[in-house]
Amino acid sequence: MSAVLSTHGLIARYGDFQALYGVDVELHAGEAVALIGANGAGKSTFLRAVMGLLPVGRDMVRLDGEPVGGTSADRMVKRGVAIVPEGRRLFTGMSVDDNLKVAIDQAARLGAKGGWSLERLHRLFPILKEKAKTPVQSLSGGQQQMVAIGRALLCQPRVLLCDEISLGLAPKVIREIYAALPEIRGAGTAMILVEQDVGLAKEATDRLYCMLEGRVTLSGRSAEVTREAIGEAYFGAGHAVV
Ligand SMILES: Nc1ncnc2c1ncn2[C@@H]1O[C@H](COP(=O)(O)OP(=O)(O)OP(=O)(O)O)[C@@H](O)[C@H]1O
Ligand SMILES: [Mg+2]
Repeated sequence: MSAVLSTHGLIARYGDFQALYGVDVELHAGEAVALIGANGAGKSTFLRAVMGLLPVGRDMVRLDGEPVGGTSADRMVKRGVAIVPEGRRLFTGMSVDDNLKVAIDQAARLGAKGGWSLERLHRLFPILKEKAKTPVQSLSGGQQQMVAIGRALLCQPRVLLCDEISLGLAPKVIREIYAALPEIRGAGTAMILVEQDVGLAKEATDRLYCMLEGRVTLSGRSAEVTREAIGEAYFGAGHAVV
């Protein structure tokens, strides 16, 4: 099966500081893959580098096999890649609807087409309809995360990159958000989930990668990787592939 998205020796830097040291990741159509690892491992950097938010070499990122590394984020959206960024990055002072309309307009401007509409999003997260006119800063953390996910979906992605969508949320809210993921996948969207909660990451995905200090230290099928292997990969007692 060919990968919809893949990275090949992906390297990324912040000035003189190198954050990624040759990362190889593959995502197949319809698949959910987790990216786990300790604070500072490079997970967010990986997503930013894929999304075109950091300068990277052309051949280091491929979409449908075609080199796209360093393509602008707008062009990546146009080609079907969307990100739910770390910290949500909503437009405060604007309502839920207005935040979502920014994404609808962006998709229209870029010519990104797909099956997501406001109505469909309201079926996925009914609270977003109820709170349509509410300023986003008045929402709970979970509701804000739903807006952030909604905004990415309205960009009509084939590939969705999610950066710690469970961070800081209550278990009940996390379950609610994770319960929506199968429907998103069912709509034909593959996803990479950056997730600190290993149990959650394993449950929600087909495969996982663990990163440590800018490198992949473990990859395997989520149902098969052991806690022990993950522990070693997290903290660095050698490289394991399961
Ligand atoms: N804007 C930046 N400028 C300089 N260094 C950065 C910047 N962003 C991240 N870094 C560094 O790059 C490394 C990887 O950071 P990154 O944010 O990708 O880690 P992470 O795995 O997402 O961590 P966390 O779980 O805390 O979100 C860290 O050493 C971090 O300090
Ligand atoms: Mg991060």
